[in-house]
Amino acid sequence: MRKPLIAANWKMNPPPAGFDAKDSPFRSTKTVDVIVFPTFVDLQACLDAKLDTGAQCAHAAEKGAHTGDVSVRMLKKLGCSHVLCGHSERRQEHGETDVQIAMLAATAIRQGVQPVVCVGESREERESGQAKDVVKRQVETIVASTVSGSLIFAYEPVWAIGTGTNATPEETQEMHAFIRSLLPDAIRDKTPILYGGSITPACAQALFALQDVDGGLVGGASLKPEEFKKIVEIAGKSRKA
Ligand code: PGA
Repeated sequence: MRKPLIAANWKMNPPPAGFDAKDSPFRSTKTVDVIVFPTFVDLQACLDAKLDTGAQCAHAAEKGAHTGDVSVRMLKKLGCSHVLCGHSERRQEHGETDVQIAMLAATAIRQGVQPVVCVGESREERESGQAKDVVKRQVETIVASTVSGSLIFAYEPVWAIGTGTNATPEETQEMHAFIRSLLPDAIRDKTPILYGGSITPACAQALFALQDVDGGLVGGASLKPEEFKKIVEIAGKSRKA
């Protein structure tokens, strides 16, 4: 059984009030793993608060002439357990390519930091019937360079991110099962596949109940602790045999 995982992607926002409280909704529970992804400047505060903490991106190289970047090795030394790889905002705004993202995931595995790899098609790609081709290319590039190392995937259709429009449960299950089918035997059943894109308490139950959905990557609603708390509670009740 895969334990549900809820990840808070705070993007370029400060941690919400109370994130470090004893009863913060951003702490892992018995039934749900919770990980926060703050900006680089807030990593230390989250680690000090004893939250499971990951970085929103990193550079695959160990060190060197990469102005503005931070290496996985540095993040590991700081105490980060996870790193997001290839969020669509990184792909769009910073031109991150499948190959760069795969190199980052491979480096993270080597360094003992868990990569959370984001994949997903744009609206045009879905409307022109290419959604599976795009996701296949993204997943296969990662799988080819990580040789059955431990992976977490987040399926985030770009058209669902920050738009208030979710993928339907049917679209979500179909794509999650497809992603799982692309994984090597050695990791297929144990790899968590999260859904991301406008998750709210209202839609969480229908999504988390799906066979191949193991939790969520939550953006906007993770900045509202009350909403986030409800999402974590719903995930806790959605454990599947
Ligand atoms: P959203 O963001 O929940 O605001 O759509 C999700 C994400 O970008 O990871």
